[in-house]
Amino acid sequence: MNSLTTLILWVFLSSSALTTFIINGVEASHNLYMHLQSSRPPVNVNQLHRTGYHFQPPRNWINDPNGPMYYNGIYHLFYQYNPKGAVWGNIVWAHSVSKDLINWKTLPNAIYPSKPFDKYGCWSGSATILPGNKPVILYTGIVDEKNTQVQNYAVPANLSDPYLREWIKPDNNPLIVADKSINKTAFRDPTTAWLGRDRHWRLSMGGRRRHRGIAYLYRSKDFIHWVKAKHPLHSTARTGNWECPDFFPVSVSGKNGLETSVMDPNVKHVLKVSLDVTRYEYYTLGTYKNDKYIPDKNMIDGWNGLRYDYGNFYASKSFFDPSKNRRILWGWANESSSTADDIKKGWAGIQLIPRTIWLDSSGKQLVQWPVEEVETLRGKKVELKNKKLVKGERIEIKGITAAQADVDVTFLFDSLDKAEPFDPSWDRHDAQKLCGHKGSTVQGGLGPFGLLTLASKNLEEYTPVFFRVFKDHDKYLVLMCSDASRSTLRDGAGAYRPSFAGFVDVDLTEKKLSLRSLIDNSVVESFGARGKTCISSRVYPTLAIYDNAHLYAFNNGTQTVKIDSLNAWSMNRPLQMNN
Ligand code: FRU
Repeated sequence: MNSLTTLILWVFLSSSALTTFIINGVEASHNLYMHLQSSRPPVNVNQLHRTGYHFQPPRNWINDPNGPMYYNGIYHLFYQYNPKGAVWGNIVWAHSVSKDLINWKTLPNAIYPSKPFDKYGCWSGSATILPGNKPVILYTGIVDEKNTQVQNYAVPANLSDPYLREWIKPDNNPLIVADKSINKTAFRDPTTAWLGRDRHWRLSMGGRRRHRGIAYLYRSKDFIHWVKAKHPLHSTARTGNWECPDFFPVSVSGKNGLETSVMDPNVKHVLKVSLDVTRYEYYTLGTYKNDKYIPDKNMIDGWNGLRYDYGNFYASKSFFDPSKNRRILWGWANESSSTADDIKKGWAGIQLIPRTIWLDSSGKQLVQWPVEEVETLRGKKVELKNKKLVKGERIEIKGITAAQADVDVTFLFDSLDKAEPFDPSWDRHDAQKLCGHKGSTVQGGLGPFGLLTLASKNLEEYTPVFFRVFKDHDKYLVLMCSDASRSTLRDGAGAYRPSFAGFVDVDLTEKKLSLRSLIDNSVVESFGARGKTCISSRVYPTLAIYDNAHLYAFNNGTQTVKIDSLNAWSMNRPLQMNN
């Protein structure tokens, strides 16, 4: 069974409400536990495993980031939130604001069921800033118990309130309802709208026809009256329901981001979709012409496509930040623990650190890097230079809070000769399976080497993040793994502990590989080769917690590697945003 099948099975097996869903003919991707839709928030919130510098509310369930935007000097983050418990349900748009993407202030929920067009839920959507500097939110409303989905809009009640605390849902909602050709229970998550050359607006939302994933396209002259385009923006056979599509231009040169409506010969377009069936996302790069998106020829447009993150990262959304001319990506990381554990904890879900995203100079993929603001949280620093790691060697990086840290390391090697041959029977599209076989303790040639994060002193628990280099004819293949399988001693009933993995498309001429990991109590977010391959894991150590967590660098390959440089910082907690 390949790891994808395992994942799908895991999702299905852990989906205790699935039967109910199918019986009711209702389709939704989150498990709905009717008996757990409590009306009282839990009194106790377990602090163990809560993150120190990632975004999470004090309690309860969160999922998708919604409508991120920068408006008049303030960043807004809305997100799917259950005000009544630590499982999915009762969904509203919670709202937080920040001046720096790090220190946040919680505001009252912005959008919640109150009208016939969203009585059963206010699901995901996006923000668009209209000419005249007027923000508007588009979101999916659930109108009945059959899970019928419509698209609504909301506008700030008072544009002179710097935080845009209150949102109004005008009475001419819903703006868009599904026509007969559309499956109305798979019709959701409107994108940020963009302006065409004809000065008409466009927006897309996700859905499916049978097993074909679809990004619908709608057009409007005035943002109020929307007409479905004859052809969808894009659709792909055998990918299942598309959730949370994101569609935006990237510049073909440099790291600057672009406003969503920019269209000129120097841009490529990105279409990202979140796959309901597998619970991961993929994206393609391509061309947007005549209201159709066409992926480039070399792109894999399906389950094996490029991913923003090869780990726990879903329902992401990007926005253009004009204050720093960059595009920023937010992604949600669900818990990997069981629902029973989530209820005990009193909370579930975090938003990963926002990432700047741009097109790689090769034009073949995107690159991501944590926003520079996260560096303001760096505290005590330790450094290493020119440190050899021979076969089987492990050194401890001491002097920082290893449970809450930022580590940036570059490994150097003299030769690629010892790279293991890549067995042609291995599935090039199943990096996860390969990492499952070739774990951090399985001796290799060039690699495995990397970091042991959230490790207990005697390595009863650890989450290794590492590389292993293979030789495939005249090419090298770099595998990157983030392995949660030994992350905890606890026999977690229902916990998901995969060895997430991706290949890194990197030039090894300089015989260097770099790795940055943001470690934060129950999350390890890693960026290989300066953001070419990213992997996030959620883990729940029992020994490697707080001051008992350790950090190591290791090499289990026969080829000696050198730590060219390593910088590691203790990470401070953000403050509430000052007014
Ligand atoms: C993705 C998603 C969206 C939906 C929302 C509901 O995680 O299923 O498609 O709008 O979550 O909370």
